[in-house]
Amino acid sequence: MVEILPSILAADFARLGEEIAKVERVGATILHVDVMDGHFVPNLSLGIPVVRSIRKVTKLQLNVHLMITDPDKYAPEFIQAGADHVLVHQEACPHLDRTLRMIHQEGALAGVVINPGTPVAALSEVLDLAGEVLVMSVNPGFGGQHFIPNALKKVQALAWRRKELGLDFAIGIDGGVELHNAPDIVRAGCDWLVAGTSIFHTPGPGEAFVQMQRAAREATLARV
Ligand code: DX5
Ligand code: ZN
Repeated sequence: MVEILPSILAADFARLGEEIAKVERVGATILHVDVMDGHFVPNLSLGIPVVRSIRKVTKLQLNVHLMITDPDKYAPEFIQAGADHVLVHQEACPHLDRTLRMIHQEGALAGVVINPGTPVAALSEVLDLAGEVLVMSVNPGFGGQHFIPNALKKVQALAWRRKELGLDFAIGIDGGVELHNAPDIVRAGCDWLVAGTSIFHTPGPGEAFVQMQRAAREATLARV
């Protein structure tokens, strides 16, 4: 089932519990949580204590996107804090096979992320270890950027490769997702669409979520 993953990076951090409740009560099932360390990306966001606090106020699955230089060191702590999915960047992991196995062994879904400048081929040897492959459709670090269309080709290539290999990882996209481009993203083969600004920077995040989820699911009918 295609899912919209609200990204709390665009939420009001002073009212995080209320913001999460707005999307949870209208049917969201997975929440995207962006962790930035000021080294891997030129921005800082939130860390383990915030994930622990969120875990106490929601039943949503927590999809934790680690934009940090040392994910091996911190992934187990995020899992203990309540992360259901832990996503690491291919560019940050010299021992990607080991890292994905470790996340899985620690009890979370292991996800791998590629930046706009990284080809899908960089993941060819680890696709069978991934529960999610997340394609960045912006250069990571900030919300509210424009969608980079080349990401659609990567989603298509991953969907084709998944079918060819008989695998079942979810294909995600992150950055610049809006109501108008969500159907094309789904038709390319995407399952999980992360959306921050287009959900939380609106007068009604619940309504924005419902509209986008509806548009995305309708687009599955036109999938090739
Ligand atoms: C960007 C983050 C995204 C961000 C997306 O580095 O990884 O998850 O929240 O935000 P929007 O939807 O505003 O592009
Ligand atoms: Zn993200």
